Amino acid sequence: MINDLWYKNAIIYCLSVETFMDSNGDGVGDFPGLMRRLDYLHGLGVTAIWLMPFQPSPRRDGGYDITDYYNVDPRYGTLGDFVEFAHGCKQRGIRLLIDLVVNHTSDQHPWFQEACRNPDSPYRDWYVWADKKPKNANSGLVFPGVQKSTWTYDEVAKAWYFHRFYEFQPDLDTASPHVQAEILKIMGFWLQLGVSGFRMDAVPFVIAEKGAKTGKPVEQYGMLRTFREFLQWRCGDAIILAEANVLPESDMSYFGDDGDRMHMMFNFAVNQTLFYALAAAEVKPLVKAMEATRTRPQTAQWGSFLRNHDELDLGRLTQKQRETVFQAFAPEADMQLYGRGIRRRLAPMLQGDRRRLELAYSLMATLPGTPVLRYGDEIGMGDDLSLPERNCARTPMQWSTEPHGGFTAGDTPTMPVIDQGPYGYPHVNVAAQRRDPDSLLNWMERIIRMRKEVPEIGWGEFTILPVDASCVLAVRYDWRNNAVIVIHNLGAAPLEVRLDGGAVGDVKHVLINLLSEDHSHAGEDGQYRILLEPYGYRWYRAGGLDYLLRRTEI
Ligand code: NOJ
Repeated sequence: MINDLWYKNAIIYCLSVETFMDSNGDGVGDFPGLMRRLDYLHGLGVTAIWLMPFQPSPRRDGGYDITDYYNVDPRYGTLGDFVEFAHGCKQRGIRLLIDLVVNHTSDQHPWFQEACRNPDSPYRDWYVWADKKPKNANSGLVFPGVQKSTWTYDEVAKAWYFHRFYEFQPDLDTASPHVQAEILKIMGFWLQLGVSGFRMDAVPFVIAEKGAKTGKPVEQYGMLRTFREFLQWRCGDAIILAEANVLPESDMSYFGDDGDRMHMMFNFAVNQTLFYALAAAEVKPLVKAMEATRTRPQTAQWGSFLRNHDELDLGRLTQKQRETVFQAFAPEADMQLYGRGIRRRLAPMLQGDRRRLELAYSLMATLPGTPVLRYGDEIGMGDDLSLPERNCARTPMQWSTEPHGGFTAGDTPTMPVIDQGPYGYPHVNVAAQRRDPDSLLNWMERIIRMRKEVPEIGWGEFTILPVDASCVLAVRYDWRNNAVIVIHNLGAAPLEVRLDGGAVGDVKHVLINLLSEDHSHAGEDGQYRILLEPYGYRWYRAGGLDYLLRRTEI
């Protein structure tokens, strides 16, 4: 069904046009600005870019409240600028993914406005209505503490409308064949303009039954196949990367037993337990999550991530585990959000400790799946907790020591650039890190390069190797007679790890270190003794260096 599995060994970089680079000095990032920075991204080694919503929008929810699915917000440029950018990506062999936000529209969308004004309008049925306030109006809130209800009365419509998210985001009735046809049309439009697929927003809500009488919403998984089929028929190598924070038991319903639904999903189970592992120096729950999410169709893939533009949602950890993570990484109430998550960027969470940052990104790069990096993480950007909710981690990219970090030549950036403290742009910026061979940016570039050379991780099967330290994760990947072993010490103390040559699957009694000259030789007893520094990590290839001879692209 799919004719190119490029996403199995990709490096995805997520960015928001609004905060990346402003070309015309109006303070708002735009496509021409992004275009100028495309070679920077190419140089970093990313192979796919995921653009957050850039369509016209009142931007009351970071653009996840769209008023026109077939256009570019004029503040960012024109459709022509978008196509130039898409072409620039194509020229450099970079795939382009965009957000597909079709669970809801903005309340300013002409469809909703028309639906409110005219009960006989065909658009009325595109949304979800009730005459009386439904009993469940105060349940199922996604943003507790900020969002008040899931049903709101509209004075013009003289009816209640359903909104899973904020009240200005009325839900589309996604079960309606008209709405479904429109969703396909939106996908077709952007495919035609050159995208390689979509990060589909809020998938469990898109496919949930909606309505005043629905109790626990039942998922209509068949819809996922409809989207997939359409996409594939139009464009054989396009993908959907689903945002679905669901329990591992449901994973296969999203991927489809025959691999006929979502191509990729973010691995939220691994994400949450990874943060617990980092906080507690204890890998057991992470291993459990890796095992629980092991099964997937051959053509499917996980998206591995650390932080994204939302809060770090810890809702699926036990209360005790969540407290441990809060204590370690977000001890103040202001750093937490919605009672379940952390709103900080990764670098401040890890107190800017370079050893821990490398450990975390090395883990992200070597967990089963395809890494998804967030803009600014490559230079260790910080957050601005004075900004509301999730905005604290959405500040503009810090390019240089010029005013506003070189993001804009204007006076009023769309969002304040971090200019104070250890994460301010005078200290943390691309220009300075480019010049420093030991910078995080240059480390990231090297790790990305190596990750691409280790297709075993994206393609292979993993085995957890037994080690007798609860703070060490040792994983072997096997793919086409090649094996790679990655070891991470999540603890603050140095330690020696012993690996049995048999378990390592080694034939030559040497593990080739992929990141330094420090190879490891098996002792006479067939054991490897590997000394790991605090937060140390190793990437080895077992069986010598001739692996490339056996590599074929698919
Ligand atoms: C998930 C997005 O990641 C988040 O930023 C947004 O607020 C909600 N969906 C609503 O679209």
